[in-house]
Amino acid sequence: MYNINKLLLVNSANGTLIVCGSLFRGICSLVNLNSVDKPVYYSDTKGEKTYVASTEESVTVVGVISYFIDAHTNANLSVFLVGKGYGSSDSSKLISTRLLQEHGEMDVFENMVEASTVQASPFVQRYLHDFRHAFKDNGYIYFLFSRTPGTSDSRKITFIARLCENDHHYYSYTELQLNCSVSTEQQENTYNKVQAAYLAKPGEILARKIIPSNPNDKVLFAVFSADEDGGRSALCMYPLSSINTRLEEVIESCYIGEVLEDEKPKTVYSPYISKTEAICRTKRDKNMVKGYKCGAEILPSPLASKPEYALAVKPIFTQNDMLTAVAVAVENEHTVAFLGTSGADVLKVHLDPSQPEFYHRIPGEREYGGVNKNLFFNSALDHLYITTGSKLTKVPVQACEQKTDCQSCVSQRDPFCGWCVLEGRCTRKKDCRKGEGENAWLWSPKQTCVTIQSFEPPNISWKKTYNSQVLNWKKTYNSQVLKHNSYTHTL
Ligand SMILES: *[C@@H]1O[C@H](CO)[C@@H](O)[C@H](O)[C@H]1NC(C)=O
Ligand SMILES: *[C@@H]1O[C@H](CO)[C@@H](O)[C@H](O)[C@H]1NC(C)=O
Ligand SMILES: *[C@@H]1O[C@H](CO)[C@@H](O)[C@H](O)[C@H]1NC(C)=O
Repeated sequence: MYNINKLLLVNSANGTLIVCGSLFRGICSLVNLNSVDKPVYYSDTKGEKTYVASTEESVTVVGVISYFIDAHTNANLSVFLVGKGYGSSDSSKLISTRLLQEHGEMDVFENMVEASTVQASPFVQRYLHDFRHAFKDNGYIYFLFSRTPGTSDSRKITFIARLCENDHHYYSYTELQLNCSVSTEQQENTYNKVQAAYLAKPGEILARKIIPSNPNDKVLFAVFSADEDGGRSALCMYPLSSINTRLEEVIESCYIGEVLEDEKPKTVYSPYISKTEAICRTKRDKNMVKGYKCGAEILPSPLASKPEYALAVKPIFTQNDMLTAVAVAVENEHTVAFLGTSGADVLKVHLDPSQPEFYHRIPGEREYGGVNKNLFFNSALDHLYITTGSKLTKVPVQACEQKTDCQSCVSQRDPFCGWCVLEGRCTRKKDCRKGEGENAWLWSPKQTCVTIQSFEPPNISWKKTYNSQVLNWKKTYNSQVLKHNSYTHTL
């Protein structure tokens, strides 16, 4: 029978892969990570409680591995959290916590947390959630998705939802709106619908610009599209510390009882609830957010930020067709984005904060559909895996060595490459012997080559020399020293 993979999640602690498909109402199985044809766990007799994914092709599902401390036995249970849109024959659970082992009366894949607002509200289905990414960092779990603002509006807006790991009631569940837009005098370009994202530490040069006070922070790189014409799209960057700070600001505003004249909360509202309940009207202590980082029964939940409190950033890169995937690599403190498109290509963009530059296109084959949102590197970080509808392609992140002269090496403007002068090769810096020396490895985006004008003795020639910057180099072979004005290189 026809089955669509909805979720593939590596459970490295257990050496298994979690596989959830559309078949049999979204049942999952565990297979051996080293040979995926070997099943470790599968059962289709446990009923509705074990339906995890969706039967519908268009409904997206994301997941992240976590743990759950059982309150009675103190056992540390292995679980994964799932974010899932609504399909007409699925459960209405937006977020659920699924067991990865048997526990007491509970079966593998059973849901551990009952939280009616994000699991059973009849309104949830009308928000048309489209989950794109889930990850965890520093004790929090994040879900990135777009949804409609309310049940009567079909426009999509983007949110990042945060909750504490091991929060047994999802009291900490809070949604922060993300805004990716740029206004010019003539018009405002808004990219409202997130398509894919990648969490990474940027290279030092980009970090100095976007996270100057927190250079070790991680940044969420996200591609968005505009939903009016489907064509335009953009890459926006959200430092994780900015996301956390803004979330804490809006939560605090609610906890301390900041309301407007109409008694409505200033910064937040209750999503997925039909009647507008009076929330945020109790004036509590300012330290409440720190004291109850993961919320509590006495505090309002779930919360979503109002559009005025969205975290707004300007795109670093825009494109007139649809971006569908993003992965980010760092080479010698320079940041490079690999952006998948609906036309199956992958664009390489040097994220230079002063002048971002699209420098290369990896062509794809359109017949397999656009690039899938899961774009990732191998563990050595030297190859990229590109997935489309039915094809997986592995490509090197750079192809410096294909260029055989300095001019074509630097004309690529590829941050991975440079001209290794002493070896006469186009290489990564780490592959150039003595590449650390001054003018020994000429970084491709700088676009300068050196020329060796004369040699002594003259019967020795270096073929691979070019003529944009003329240096008077003298090469004295018997002393094994290469001289250039005031400094010397020992060969
Ligand atoms: C539970 O186990 C996970 C993974 O093995 C670990 O990261 C986490 O710290 C443990 N939690 C506690 C409270 O022991
Ligand atoms: C992984 O977990 C499954 C489900 O509990 C279990 O059947 C399997 O033996 C575990 N595998 C390993 C390698 O621990
Ligand atoms: C996004 O932010 C910009 C700039 O702050 C603002 O003009 C715009 O109205 C915001 N868009 C949305 C959808 O909130």
